[in-house]
Amino acid sequence: MASGAASEDLLRYNSVARAFHAVIAVMVIFNVVSGIGGEAIEDIWNPFPVHKATGILILLLSLARIGWRFTWTTPEWPATMGNLQRLVAKVTHGALYVLMLVVPLTGWIMSSASKWPISMYGLFDWPKFAVVKDSPLAEAAGESHEVLGFLMAGLVVLHVAAALHHHFVIKDNILRRMF
Ligand code: HEM
Ligand code: HEM
Repeated sequence: MASGAASEDLLRYNSVARAFHAVIAVMVIFNVVSGIGGEAIEDIWNPFPVHKATGILILLLSLARIGWRFTWTTPEWPATMGNLQRLVAKVTHGALYVLMLVVPLTGWIMSSASKWPISMYGLFDWPKFAVVKDSPLAEAAGESHEVLGFLMAGLVVLHVAAALHHHFVIKDNILRRMF
């Protein structure tokens, strides 16, 4: 029925938000795994050129996603969600949005100081900042990229665990809102 379909729609994120979420999630998971495990497999396959290009795409898509995010409001959470849960969800989502910008930005600054190009999947080279190798800015960007990259990995694990907990343990509709 039309009215039933309409009220069901209200419980979900809009399709553009769901598409942004899915595409960026796959890319962030790839970058977290390739960033942490990259050196270990470098002899078989060096993932860092793809890591860098994918990171730049994450930055661009996240800017578009955050712009789009200002044009709509999220669907209401179910009444079963307590105030603490809502606060933790809001803080985690906010931190993920910030890290989706800051982690690639620090990677970009760090990689600008390296001799290797930032090749966008072999199609063209991404521009670099004028950062000098071993300068305080290059060092700070490298340190921040490592610390914030690991923080992002931890938050993603927490976020996915929370989504699965909602779906399989609490059995509410939180997961279906986003997929
Ligand atoms: C959301 C996007 C990104 C995530 C989650 C991410 C995450 C990570 C993580 C966790 C590491 C391992 C840190 C370490 O052990 O030192 C890493 C390393 C690295 N990342 Fe990223 N990164 C992202 C984007 C980028 C971008 C845009 C670039 C450059 C254009 C980049 C360049 C690098 C490089 C060159 C390394 C190796 C650093 C080294 O070991 O010397 N990353 N990244
Ligand atoms: C397969 C893994 C993932 C699952 C199952 C998942 C699940 C979800 C779900 C169910 C929501 C909606 C929460 C709600 O209704 O309040 C959500 C929101 C969100 N997710 Fe994920 N997620 C995943 C991966 C990621 C990754 C890797 C990121 C990192 C960029 C991410 C960033 C976000 C953000 C920022 C929101 C908040 C959306 C908003 O309200 O504006 N997710 N996720």
